[in-house]
Amino acid sequence: MVFPEMDFEIFIQMLILGVGVDLTTLVSVLVACANIGSLSLGRALHAFGVKASFSGEVVFNNTLLDMYSKCGNLNGATEVFVKMGETTIVSWTSIIATYVREGLYDDAIGLFDEMQSNCVRPYIYTVTSIVHACACSNSLDKGRDVHNYVINNSLVLNFPVANALINMYTKCGSMEEPRLVFSRIPAKDVVSWNMMIGGYLQNSLPNGALELFPDIVKQLKPHDITMACVLSACAGLAALDKGREILMWI
Ligand SMILES: *[C@@H]1O[C@H](CO)[C@@H](O)[C@H](O)[C@H]1NC(C)=O
Ligand SMILES: *[C@@H]1O[C@H](CO)[C@@H](O)[C@H](O)[C@H]1NC(C)=O
Repeated sequence: MVFPEMDFEIFIQMLILGVGVDLTTLVSVLVACANIGSLSLGRALHAFGVKASFSGEVVFNNTLLDMYSKCGNLNGATEVFVKMGETTIVSWTSIIATYVREGLYDDAIGLFDEMQSNCVRPYIYTVTSIVHACACSNSLDKGRDVHNYVINNSLVLNFPVANALINMYTKCGSMEEPRLVFSRIPAKDVVSWNMMIGGYLQNSLPNGALELFPDIVKQLKPHDITMACVLSACAGLAALDKGREILMWI
C-alpha cells in the first residue's frame, strides 16, 4: 500500500496557498482516504468536491462510491450510486463488490442482472465477484447462468474467474462442471488444484481427488495443502497402498 500521508499534506498545502485543486488531485486524495478508511475525511472531501463543481465528472462519483465502500459505509455508497446520472462499468463493479463484501448476495446478483439489462459489458472482475456471491448464497442456477454468460460473451477464463467458478460449483455440490472448467484452464495454478481436490473431498468423492494426483505431480511441485488433502483422501479411502504409492512419487 502507498503511504497516503504525503497526498494529504500536499492537498492541505494547496488549500492553504489558495492553489486551485484540480479533479486529478482530489481523486488521488480520495483514493488515499479510502485506503486508510477515514469516513469523516471522505465526507469532507465529498463536500469539498461538490462545492468545487466536480459532480459533473463521472470519475469523481466513481471515486466517491469506492471511498464510501472501502470505509464500510454501505448507505453512502448506495446513495452515490443511485444518484449518479451517468454510470460506467467501474460504477457497477464497485457497487456490486460493495454488496458482496457486505454479505448482501441476493442484492448483488440483482444488480448484476440490472447491469446486463442496461447493456453494460462486465469486466471479468465483476464476474468474479458475482460468482463469489453465488457460491456464498448457494445459488447454483444463477452461478450456471453467469458461467454461460462468460461463455456466450467469450470472456477470457483467467485464473480469478476460473477459480471462482470451481469454488462456486464445488460449494454448491456439483463436481462435473468444475471438472470441465478446470480442464479448460491451460496452465493450472496451485489454487485451482487445491480447490478441485478440496471440492472432491467436501463432496465425499475422494477417488476424484486421487485421480488428479498423477497430473499434479507432472505439472507442479506439490503444495503442502494439496499434499494434506491427498493424504486425507487416502485416509478417507483407507487406501493405504495408494498413500504409499503417492509418497513414492514425491
Ligand atoms: C454525480 O452525482 C451527483 C449526485 O451525487 C449527480 O448530481 C451528478 O449528475 C453525477 N454526475 C454524473 C456525471 O453522473
Ligand atoms: C447463452 O447462449 C445460449 C445459446 O445462444 C442461450 O440459450 C442462453 O440463454 C445464453 N445464456 C446467457 C446467460 O447469456
